[in-house]
Amino acid sequence: MNIESIRREFLSLTRTKNDAPLVYFDSAATTLKPQRVVEVLTQFYNFEAANVHRGAHFLSDEATTKYEQSRHTVAQFLGGAQDNEVVFTRGTTESINLIAQSYGRAFLKKGDVVLLSEMEHHSNLVPWHLLAEEKELELRYIPVDDQGELDLGDLSNLLKGVKLVSFVYCSNTLGTVNPVKKVIDAAHAVGAKVVVDAAQAMTGLEINVKEMDCDFLCFSGHKAFAPFGIGVLYGKEELLNSMPPYQGGGSMIVDVNKCSSTYLDSPQRFEAGTPNVGGAVALKVACDFITELGIQSIYEHEKELTDHCKQKLKELGGVKSIGNSETQFSLVSFFIDGVHPADVGHILNEKGVAIRTGHHCTQLLMQRYNVPSTIRASFSVYNTLEEVDYFVEALGKAKDMLL
Ligand code: ALA
Repeated sequence: MNIESIRREFLSLTRTKNDAPLVYFDSAATTLKPQRVVEVLTQFYNFEAANVHRGAHFLSDEATTKYEQSRHTVAQFLGGAQDNEVVFTRGTTESINLIAQSYGRAFLKKGDVVLLSEMEHHSNLVPWHLLAEEKELELRYIPVDDQGELDLGDLSNLLKGVKLVSFVYCSNTLGTVNPVKKVIDAAHAVGAKVVVDAAQAMTGLEINVKEMDCDFLCFSGHKAFAPFGIGVLYGKEELLNSMPPYQGGGSMIVDVNKCSSTYLDSPQRFEAGTPNVGGAVALKVACDFITELGIQSIYEHEKELTDHCKQKLKELGGVKSIGNSETQFSLVSFFIDGVHPADVGHILNEKGVAIRTGHHCTQLLMQRYNVPSTIRASFSVYNTLEEVDYFVEALGKAKDMLL
């Protein structure tokens, strides 16, 4: 990968803070957007904006074609899914809520067990809390070990009576990459359905829903170079078509009568109302961008940055990492005894370094490691080893000031 030419695509990188160039280490919160994505969005809104699947005019035809082309690109990107297995949503959060409120309400019943893990993002916890309360489900958790890996030693016991497993591919707080296939196969062996949260996996990990054999998979465009407000729910065709709609409205019906309606199959069944057409069109460009760079090359780059950062933090001293898995990539998460992460974030911001501090929407992990919050630096294709060095140097100065 030619990092310099990649960096030129991301205009945010020309920004400065107090005359220091921006070092953007918050890509786990959202990636920066390459110019080609912004341009296609601008082109769409300037010249092509029209509603899909309903107009009698060429603009609507064009918008529909582009919208459906994007669905096809995403389906291929996910490893050869069928187009009708790709539902556009607002993002991972909406995708998981859709599964809980549609699949969960229809097929899970009192006493059924849903298996989650201690490293889930709140978007893969709260939707199940809401459902568990309503349906009187049992929620069970795969523990996380000291290294920041799923402790699968007791998986067969944990899976007893489980009807659905929902877990993350790559942790947004630990950077751990989970053995998805192993968990999916074990879950299927007891007849459970499996949801994979791939929000953090899109830029660096191969996603092949057919090989994984997951029943559902979710991701957000904004964590993968695409605009905010567009995301995807992948589901096996038969499953999606067996599920009731999540929302009702236009474009998802066959017939509407005074007391009832009948519904189209997936994906229209789950895309009530006017969708985020511009976002979908831009998502295609983002997927093509990732494909052009090569998922393996992105992975190797982010892994190198992660390993280099971990080494530098070790040399700095006084830094306690959470997450030390061999598989860790794309981010580091740590704390310094006696120092409030928010103060570090503030000082680094003054030096142009953008990081995230807090619980990262993973309060179960904070409880697991008995810390209120951490300092997280997360990387992407546009980051360099020099930026990592600058970050660790600035962190050292912050540490000296605060201790
Ligand atoms: N889930 C996002 C993060 O990890 C927002 O920061």
